Amino acid sequence: PRVALVFGGRSSEHAISVSTAGSVLNAIDRTKYDVLPIGITHEGRWALVGDDPARMAITDGVLPDVAQLAEQAEGEVVLPASPASREVLWSEPGAVPKLLGEVDVVLPLLHGPWGEDGTVQGLLELSGVPYVGSGVLASAVGMDKEYTKRVLVSFGIGIGPYTVVRPRDWESEAGRAAARERIAELGLPVFVKPCRAGSSIGITKVKDPAELDRAIEEARRHDPKVIVEAMLEGREIECAVLEFEDGPRASVPAEILVGGGYEFYDFEAKYIDSSEVRIPAELDGSQSAEIRRLAVAAFEALGCEGLARVDFFLLTDGRWVVNEINTMPGFTPISAYPKMWEATGVPYRELIDRLLQAALR
Ligand code: DAL
Ligand code: MG
Repeated sequence: PRVALVFGGRSSEHAISVSTAGSVLNAIDRTKYDVLPIGITHEGRWALVGDDPARMAITDGVLPDVAQLAEQAEGEVVLPASPASREVLWSEPGAVPKLLGEVDVVLPLLHGPWGEDGTVQGLLELSGVPYVGSGVLASAVGMDKEYTKRVLVSFGIGIGPYTVVRPRDWESEAGRAAARERIAELGLPVFVKPCRAGSSIGITKVKDPAELDRAIEEARRHDPKVIVEAMLEGREIECAVLEFEDGPRASVPAEILVGGGYEFYDFEAKYIDSSEVRIPAELDGSQSAEIRRLAVAAFEALGCEGLARVDFFLLTDGRWVVNEINTMPGFTPISAYPKMWEATGVPYRELIDRLLQAALR
């Protein structure tokens, strides 16, 4: 089958998506799949790029970029045989569905808005081409930290205290004052986050009320809708979900151990410094069974398909709460999702194969 790997994109997680794609390119079975690497630039242009994973990695803290990959690839890209595909190089977006119509399946390895949020999924639905992962609704809900929580609560799944600062709240003094009051009820510290973003980009841990406005402005640079969450006391544990022939299953869980010098699991700690991820997390049998049950329940609550990584806190009182759901989790060389499946007995190559086969079914 012919597979389009789509990566990069307009979100602030562009480079992480490129790194994810490089890692998937290393793992995918080239004897079985004919791979078409399609990058989306920061500006939203779609381009066929080379498929050298070494150029797609985060190296010495330098982030990869699709526009650069496309430039480097000029002259050395082996274009697919059909003329319609050739047109798409540096094309207008309108040509994209035409190209996608020529592949058997799309693997949208996009993180963040305009990719993981249902928009590209909508384009693929309209194009009638099968794709890996969640559909429009689950992607959109999973991207939005407020609606993720609302859906989980309605299914009886635990979440932490939070409040939302909507775009209009911040436009008037009265709105700001009311928002600050709601935030004060959460205590300190709080985490101020863009409501629809990922990889910890735009997040500030606020310990002093005097820092609050600046943190909200920072989050608003990424999303006009901001979510503020109470700090939870406990351990940060994640679980990978993958859809098998008989339904979704959860992997062994992983624990995030944020390195010294970091206040929380921020972008640097994640991708530049490589915080430790302990797999499997040290849990007793019943704790492990419970997180795996809840991970599948959260996956089903949102109506996810294919895959998701569900991130939890195990609170000091023993309760589990879901922090968030990632419908297209990172697959970078240091990402937990593929490692959790390796530890559960599904090697990386088989994992990619299962994802593609599920989309093709
Ligand atoms: N949003 C990043 C890629 C993750 O959840 O792994
Ligand atoms: Mg995330």
